[in-house]
Amino acid sequence: MAKKLFIETLGCAMNVRDSEHMIAELNQKEHYELTTEASEADLIVINTCSVREKPVHKLFSELGVFNKLKKNSAKIGVTGCTASHLGEEIIKRAPYVNFVLGARNVSKITDVLHRDKAVETEISYDESEFAFKEFRSSPYKSFINISIGCDKQCTFCIVPHNRGEEISIPANLIIDEAYRSVERGAREVFLLGQNVNNYGRRFSGSHPKMNFTQLLRDISAIEGLERIRFTSPHPLHMDDAFIEEFATNPKICKSMHVPLQSGSTAILQQMKRGYSKEWFLNRIDTLRALAPNAFISTDIIVAFPGESDADFADTMAVVEHVKFDQIFSFKYSPRPHTEAEHYDNIVEATIASERLRHLQDVQDAILDEKSRHYVGQRYRVYFEELRQDGYVAGRSDNNLAIRVKGSEEILGTFAEVEITQSARLSQIGEIVVA
Ligand code: 5AD
Ligand code: SF4
Repeated sequence: MAKKLFIETLGCAMNVRDSEHMIAELNQKEHYELTTEASEADLIVINTCSVREKPVHKLFSELGVFNKLKKNSAKIGVTGCTASHLGEEIIKRAPYVNFVLGARNVSKITDVLHRDKAVETEISYDESEFAFKEFRSSPYKSFINISIGCDKQCTFCIVPHNRGEEISIPANLIIDEAYRSVERGAREVFLLGQNVNNYGRRFSGSHPKMNFTQLLRDISAIEGLERIRFTSPHPLHMDDAFIEEFATNPKICKSMHVPLQSGSTAILQQMKRGYSKEWFLNRIDTLRALAPNAFISTDIIVAFPGESDADFADTMAVVEHVKFDQIFSFKYSPRPHTEAEHYDNIVEATIASERLRHLQDVQDAILDEKSRHYVGQRYRVYFEELRQDGYVAGRSDNNLAIRVKGSEEILGTFAEVEITQSARLSQIGEIVVA
């Protein structure tokens, strides 16, 4: 009988792809099959995130729960960013954990599986040319890594410590992977990297020169591929050629996640983001001029050390000017191994909470206003998910989450949908042209 694998994936799309890699390796080399019941699993893996403090605390309580409900013979592995960050401390605090595997080492999953108490967290390990076996969590779209690691040194961010130096994956491997996905029937690829538009800065072997704009062009030449998405570009590397390619290439979905972090140039400097408020606004205005209907989302951290009322007002001015289609907003959380951890001009907790609330209230009002304009509009939707409640959900080219009444025959197809009801981040519609 096949052994069973239960895997829980926290954090970002990079982790989703890392989980897919591990599932593929475990399936092909060790004959594991997925289960959604931890209690019947032979192997339980938690693929963790450490970008903020909360999920790290949650990990240990979760591990305790898994340890109680697991089969006697089952193993527990902790992988991903918290594994990189805490290493063997995880086994010290939870001695029943069988192995710890860092985010940069997921290709070693079948190796650590057989070495009890193994801890592999080497961040200089290079798996950029490692050919993973195939596993895709969705038949309709494929996540494809285009780089690993991160070369930036944002002072708030633990990711470079966990994922190491940035290395681009050779373009021929990416393009082959995209081809194979299309052959399998997927119509969409989702390109992943910490700073996708820094692509090509460093390969581990010698490879022809290539930047992200060129990579997008080459991928879009694949016949049968209809949609390309990517996350995340860095505002600093949004040059004109990239914005123009984004706006004019019909296969590139008009949706971009552009992390602002702060609207204050002084705070951006403290964060070592490498751009100013004006540069960010200029890039967004250029993008909007060429692609007026693009969905633009962002990440914002409030109450970074030293953030004054005036700095926060700058962030709000950017929010009001850009009118983002979605904001992921966070209170600053000090992280180990970061420069800002040592900053002592901490913003008081009550002020931090007030700022977050204010930002979210203003953004909610912006989205309420936007959603009024969606009703009656038509969008081309790619259906990807069958819901329990008789709806099938998908996304428009510009990233609106849209659902229609329907059944599984429309999964994996495109249709023109007219919006009939609109809420902040979810739209209901009817198919007008199948
Ligand atoms: N505190 C709060 N938010 C953070 N992020 C990254 N590090 C921190 C931190 N120390 C946010 C950033 C990033 C997103 C993934 O998480 O906004 O873009
Ligand atoms: Fe993703 Fe960053 Fe969380 Fe790692 S720490 S899972 S890279 S969001």
